[in-house]
Amino acid sequence: MRHLIGIEDLSVAEIEQLIATAEDIMANPAKYSSVASGKKLATLFYEPSTRTRLSFEAAMMELGGGVLGFSEAQSSSAAKGESVADTAKVISCFADIMVMRHFKEGAPMVAAMNASVPVINAGDGGHNHPTQTLTDLLTIKCEKGRLSDLTVGLCGDLKFGRTVHSLITALSRYTGIRFVLISPKELTLPDYIKSEVLDRKGIEYVETTSLEESLPELDILYMTRVQRERFFNEQDYIRLKDSYILTVEKLDLAKPDLCIMHPLPRVNEIAVGVDKDSRACYFKQVLYGKYIRMALIKMLLEEADK
Ligand code: NCD
Repeated sequence: MRHLIGIEDLSVAEIEQLIATAEDIMANPAKYSSVASGKKLATLFYEPSTRTRLSFEAAMMELGGGVLGFSEAQSSSAAKGESVADTAKVISCFADIMVMRHFKEGAPMVAAMNASVPVINAGDGGHNHPTQTLTDLLTIKCEKGRLSDLTVGLCGDLKFGRTVHSLITALSRYTGIRFVLISPKELTLPDYIKSEVLDRKGIEYVETTSLEESLPELDILYMTRVQRERFFNEQDYIRLKDSYILTVEKLDLAKPDLCIMHPLPRVNEIAVGVDKDSRACYFKQVLYGKYIRMALIKMLLEEADK
């Protein structure tokens, strides 16, 4: 059974294929309106979500399928002590594909080991978020026209930000990528990603604390929120939460064709005034997310039927 737990579960060729399918869906949505008819997608969300869950549900509906699920652990049998493994076996009786978000790193992998239908990781703790990365790759492809030869700035909470971890892993497979890692000293990228992904693949990167100094050289600026729910104490969060705020004034330093991205939700990292700038891509990014998830559901359902 094929699952999507980490972005490395997909080859570069498969990612290209998903992007091509998503582009075709955008151009010809009617062609795909009954691809999943008679199928059901279950969303198992043990952590808050707006975009990811609703985008999966919208994606499945636009493919002609049905949706079921829960959006908080307290309303599921997890509150009675059911294990993720048992829940995965149970949901396999009701749905043809399942999407899981969990606060514990590795929970979707446990689900995949116990499910008899495809499992998609929709974010596991501070670890990975592969479908946000597919969203980000489609956004970059559509907005910049390429996935190679880019200077990519990642700014904010690089320690706990799972979207950053998956995006770095994905972009490291393309040529000519250079990363500028902008964070407070306390929130730098985990060592395992530096050694196992960046150093192993010989990817060029710099670590800095200054957004202003980095801005002029960036093709992409990926802003992230400080991940309050992963902090051990509130004082640290309060001290670090406003480390970076992108404003209209700061954008004067940036290239005219910069692409500003953010997985959302935004807290304070991007001033609302920036939304009007043509370089702001974060709301378009949300829409791209629905189309790439349609492509992913289609692919996994087809593989499961083989
Ligand atoms: C992200 C997440 O859940 O990791 N949100 C999302 O899925 N778009 C980013 C975040 O919560 O900061």
